[in-house]
Parts: sequence; C-alpha cells; structure tokens
Amino acid sequence: MDSLLDFTNQTVLITGAASGFGKLIAEGLAQRGAKLVLGDVNEAAIESLAAKLRSEGREAVAQMCNVALEEDCQRLVATAVDTFGRLDIAVNNAGISHDFTPFEEIEQSVWTRQWEVNVNGVQYGMKHQIAQMKRQGSGNILNLSSMAGIGAAPGIAAYGAAKHAVVGLTKSAAAELGAVNIRVNAACPFFTLTPMVAESSIAVQKGVAAAESVLSRGCVMKRLGQPDEVANAMILLLSPANTYMTGQCIAINGGALSL
Ligand SMILES: NC(=O)c1ccc[n+]([C@@H]2O[C@H](COP(=O)([O-])OP(=O)(O)OC[C@H]3O[C@@H](n4cnc5c(N)ncnc54)[C@H](O)[C@@H]3O)[C@@H](O)[C@H]2O)c1
Repeated sequence: MDSLLDFTNQTVLITGAASGFGKLIAEGLAQRGAKLVLGDVNEAAIESLAAKLRSEGREAVAQMCNVALEEDCQRLVATAVDTFGRLDIAVNNAGISHDFTPFEEIEQSVWTRQWEVNVNGVQYGMKHQIAQMKRQGSGNILNLSSMAGIGAAPGIAAYGAAKHAVVGLTKSAAAELGAVNIRVNAACPFFTLTPMVAESSIAVQKGVAAAESVLSRGCVMKRLGQPDEVANAMILLLSPANTYMTGQCIAINGGALSL
C-alpha cells in the first residue's frame, strides 16, 4: 500500500460513524489498515457497521455514544485505549443541522441543541482525546466544521454559529498542542448529499434535484458534494504522512463562494 494512505496500526476513533461522512471515513480507513472505534447515538447502525467490517477481516469496535454527554465521550476514548492500547486519530464528526429558519424565528431549543451536540460534543471529545494523546506524546484530531463555520448562508444562523465555534476550538487547541506533537485541524465541507442534506426538509419538500439546484447556486461547480468525494478529501487530510499541518480549517466546497 502507498505509504501516503497506509493507516496500518493506527487506532482511529470516529463519532457519528453510523451515517454519512463518519461511515464513509470508517470504511475508507478500515480498508487501509486502521483499527476503528465507532461511536454514534444510533447503536444498532454502528454495531452493524462494526460487525460488517470485522467480517471483512478489519478490526472495529462499536459503542453507543451521545456526544452531548461528556461521560459518553470519555468512555469512547477509554474503549480505544482498553481495546487497542492507544488513540492515534480522532474524528469529531457527529453533528446535527436545523431547518432553514429566519434568524429571529430560531427557537432557543434549536439553538441550545446545536450547542449541546455540535459544540459541547466536540469539546468533550477533544478534552478526553487530548488527555490520552498527551500521555502518548502524539495525536491527530480532525473536527467537522462546515463552510457555515468559515463563511455564512442565510437561514442557518444557529448551525453557523456552532460551526464557527468548532473552528475556534480547533485553532485554540492547535496553538496549545503543536509543541507536544498533537495536531488539530478542521474540515469545512459545503452542502453534501449525505442523509443530513438528502433527507432535509428542503429536499423532502422540493425533491433532491430542485434542492440541489437552489443550494448550489453560489458554488462554481454548480452542484452539491457527493458524500464519497468529500469523505475522500478528509481521508487525504488524515493521512499519516500529512504531519506538518495544524490549526487549519480546510474548505471542501466545489468552489463555493461565501461571505
Ligand atoms: N452533509 C453536509 O452538507 C455537511 C456539510 C458541512 C458539514 N457537515 C458536518 O459533517 C458531519 C457529519 O454529517 P453528515 O452529513 O455525515 O450527517 P449524517 O446525518 O448523515 O450523519 C450524522 C451522524 O451523527 C450521528 N449523531 C447525531 N447526533 C449525535 C449525537 N448527539 N451523538 C453521537 N452521534 C450523533 C447521527 O446518528 C448520524 O449517524 C456533521 O458534523 C455535519 O454538521 C455536513
């Protein structure tokens, strides 16, 4: 295997691994030799993914993990260490969106839930991942932000604020941890046709093709991302050979233009 994409013996923890990007990254890294620790609130789906990977000769464990609960995030790191002895890579991917809503109509419950899952969920994960990575003397963290975390789009203010916070967490941790050999970056995808978008209210109401046409207007490639091409870009970022990149929030966006 090309050493640029050889994840042999790398222990990788992924949250939100039951669907979309998390699942594709898990499958892509498993094929390239990684040992996987998969967390999600959808316990049946991650158990089934881990069983499928094991049946293909890969190493994978699954554990129910609600990232909005610190103890669940701590337990997922403990499972990585108990099962595989260490934690090399963490992908803080679990996240939720909300319906397009005018700013002043966003309900506080939506705002609070965005913060609980998309911000606290990343911070809880990072806290316990970093503690373990410091003990080992190395580590690599990739957080899922969004184009909404480095730019803006109308109607998704709560999601955008939360994803900007993920950028803040990423850069702050990178500044603090570079000297101890722990790198922290963020991926910032544009709208991509994972279940998050393909099953969103706008796609259900208008149909996926019409929703794609509306959502991709500000994108020079005039289409939304396909899940595998965006997950592939994240796998490239995670390459064990990519050792001098930290504190970066990388757009994967088909040339989407934004504020
Ligand atoms: N799809 C897009 O257009 C897009 C664009 C930019 C960023 N993102 C981000 O990428 C990440 C993955 O999204 P996706 O598109 O694959 O979505 P998805 O809905 O397909 O998958 C999200 C996964 O996260 C899990 N999850 C939700 N809440 C959780 C919680 N509290 N604890 C643990 N797991 C939980 C879900 O069960 C699901 O398996 C998210 O952080 C999302 O905000 C997505």
